[in-house]
Amino acid sequence: MRERTFVLIKPDGVQRGLVGEIVRRFENRGLQLVALKMVRISKALAEEYYAEHKGKAFFEGLVEYVTSGPTVAMLWEGDNAVAVVRKTMGATDPVKAEPGTIRADFGLSIGRNVIHGSDSLESAKREAALFFRPDEIHAYERSQDAWIHG
Ligand code: RTP
Ligand code: MG
Repeated sequence: MRERTFVLIKPDGVQRGLVGEIVRRFENRGLQLVALKMVRISKALAEEYYAEHKGKAFFEGLVEYVTSGPTVAMLWEGDNAVAVVRKTMGATDPVKAEPGTIRADFGLSIGRNVIHGSDSLESAKREAALFFRPDEIHAYERSQDAWIHG
């Protein structure tokens, strides 16, 4: 099923110059970029975005981390985009992520794991609405699509 999923390159990914590398991996996979912008996340937005983790021991540190510098927010579209992005990112903890995934190739610590991707279609819709207005999301045809989606 064609899906849209939300991806955030966290402040460490931006600081370490990984934006191009990460975008390249999703493009190479065949996913289609439909929205992208740089965002400095406010404390209020971070607390809403990570509301599911409120009360956990790592919550304060997580909010501090995602608000510590500019991030890059994106929407990627394609067949099974939610699962494909999660697999391409790897497990939450880079120590457990499979080699070849973004978190394994570029991370060492769960508290600096470079990237976020929505964990379900419902989360993707909620997160997309937090970061993008409808007019910032672009539907367009790509001539290569017939060679990607069978
Ligand atoms: P994300 O939401 O960032 O894509 O990550 P995820 O679904 O793979 O993992 P989730 O359970 O939603 O955790 C959100 C983020 O919180 C940080 N975290 N730290 N210190 C810890 O034990 C711990 N656990 C989670 C990570 O940055 C994780 O990505
Ligand atoms: Mg999550």
